[in-house]
Amino acid sequence: MKKIQSELPIFYETAHAELASALEMLAACKGTNSSKQAFGYFMHAKDEYNHAGYFFKMLSKRGKIASVEKARDFRFTPPSLITKGYISNKGFLIDTMKFKDFIAFVYTNELLAKSSFEKILTLVGSNTQEGRIISGVMKDELRHHGMAKKHFLKNYSALQPWQLIIYRIRETVNNKGRKIYDANLKVLDRLLTPLYIVMAYLAGTISKKLNLNEFKRKGKNLMDISTNSIL
Ligand SMILES: [Fe+2]
Ligand SMILES: [Fe+2]
Repeated sequence: MKKIQSELPIFYETAHAELASALEMLAACKGTNSSKQAFGYFMHAKDEYNHAGYFFKMLSKRGKIASVEKARDFRFTPPSLITKGYISNKGFLIDTMKFKDFIAFVYTNELLAKSSFEKILTLVGSNTQEGRIISGVMKDELRHHGMAKKHFLKNYSALQPWQLIIYRIRETVNNKGRKIYDANLKVLDRLLTPLYIVMAYLAGTISKKLNLNEFKRKGKNLMDISTNSIL
């Protein structure tokens, strides 16, 4: 049970990241005027949707074994893509970034994704059915990385490999920042939940003491009701 509990956040976060990538790629597909590029983005989006599907399945499998209280914390809702920082509330990357930065972002993130899957692969075991699925996902990520790299070097050949390394460091820092932000949200949630419960209890106690008969309007002439009435 302990193993399941520690695995839940890993699959939860990974599913978010994959679904966010799919949406980013779909936005890029919609935004380009080149049919060749649109096809590339579309196929990339399709891969990412499939990856998200695999991780949601792995998450749900663990959620069914875990306690209801624990599983509830890992229920997916689409807005959490934004609140957790996987999609910016300022818009999709293709719209908010320079094109060069966008390609460099894909280039570095695909490589980072592949290395984070290596850790998950160790967790589930490479000989298991899940392990084989994750190995397939890693192959896809390397292919995406290769495509972005090819595109990048073809269009921005003046850029040096060290500049791409800087992009990678920047993304690693951003990813860490996202985790810290998420941890802060959880702390806030823990602090505020007792306050919400107390407020709900007070509201319930007050409403119980109210005489609601005054609010019954059946059979009454509404014109006779005081203009100060709240109903
Ligand atoms: Fe992916
Ligand atoms: Fe990818």
